[in-house]
Amino acid sequence: MLPTTSFLVAAAGVAFAQLQYTSTATSAVAAARATALTLSPTSNVVGATFDRFVQIFLENTDYSKAIANTNLAYLASQGISLTNYYAITHPSQPNYVAAVGASTNSITGDGFVRIASSVKTIVDKLEPAGISWGIYQEDMPYSGFQGNWKNQVSGADDYVRKHNPLVVYDSITVDANRAAKCKNFTMFTKDLNTNKLPQWMFITPNMTNDGHDTSVTTAGSWARNWLTPLLANPSFNIARTLIILTFDEGTTTGTNQIYAVLLGSAVPTSLRGTTNSTRYTHYSLLKTVERNWGLTAIGTNDAAANAFF
Ligand SMILES: *[C@@H]1O[C@H](CO)[C@@H](O)[C@H](O)[C@H]1NC(C)=O
Ligand SMILES: *[C@@H]1O[C@H](CO)[C@@H](O)[C@H](O)[C@H]1NC(C)=O
Ligand SMILES: *[C@@H]1O[C@H](CO)[C@@H](O)[C@H](O)[C@H]1NC(C)=O
Repeated sequence: MLPTTSFLVAAAGVAFAQLQYTSTATSAVAAARATALTLSPTSNVVGATFDRFVQIFLENTDYSKAIANTNLAYLASQGISLTNYYAITHPSQPNYVAAVGASTNSITGDGFVRIASSVKTIVDKLEPAGISWGIYQEDMPYSGFQGNWKNQVSGADDYVRKHNPLVVYDSITVDANRAAKCKNFTMFTKDLNTNKLPQWMFITPNMTNDGHDTSVTTAGSWARNWLTPLLANPSFNIARTLIILTFDEGTTTGTNQIYAVLLGSAVPTSLRGTTNSTRYTHYSLLKTVERNWGLTAIGTNDAAANAFF
């Protein structure tokens, strides 16, 4: 059942398929959790500069504020700090949507939206090339879930659809095999421990840890505490792993410049602790992936963006 606030983005005359997995009732979630398909395919397609790409988004902080945070400054010192990186727009949702689809697709708000299944994302480039992909969202109650989810004890917002870039696209949700690759952190740990992590992944911590309902202090300490053991874990930071830690957007009053740091084994030792002032945006995430694996652009925004390498 769709929430009554649904705002459907579709070309005139295009009918939407019925979505499943949108009910947020506790019993419906428990039932779906018991049966929902979850998939963790792997691959090893060699890229020009890296073989694994990990994107982690935190929430709503200007560059100046993030770089002043001790933990985020520490992480910046371990990699390449991108000192001229910009989000696309405000508010959150269109930034996530743009980071995987090369366009905001006319989305201007954070409400429940669906993007027509004809609209392409990076998944339509990765799959034909045989590159495995997956989304990991902390506290998403089961793979393929399409609603919002609150902490069942405190009632606080926990996992939100607007921070899950691919679930907004019908080209993902109406395809059971694709929805099954939109997973939670339980699955992340499982995939990590069984060497089932994909080559392309997008990670969002919950509304506490990403700073949305807390502050950059919480987001910074989560990021450092979460990433430090993973950087030392050879199942995560395999040879030629490129990690980007960034934010979805700045605050609405600023220039939308945001913190972004490149980490991982794909960052040459000689470049660790350096800065790079090339202008980048979330479209650079796509351009970097496309250049690395020789994929064609989704649209004009990714085609025109600068790649990290
Ligand atoms: C995460 O997803 C899996 C697979 O759908 C599910 O079995 C598990 O209960 C979920 N974990 C949490 C904490 O909701
Ligand atoms: C987010 O996850 C952390 C553990 O990583 C947990 O302590 C916190 O309660 C979660 N937030 C919500 C709103 O459930
Ligand atoms: C940084 O900037 C230069 C341009 O001065 C660019 O050629 C280089 O590849 C950039 N990227 C990284 C990750 O250092």
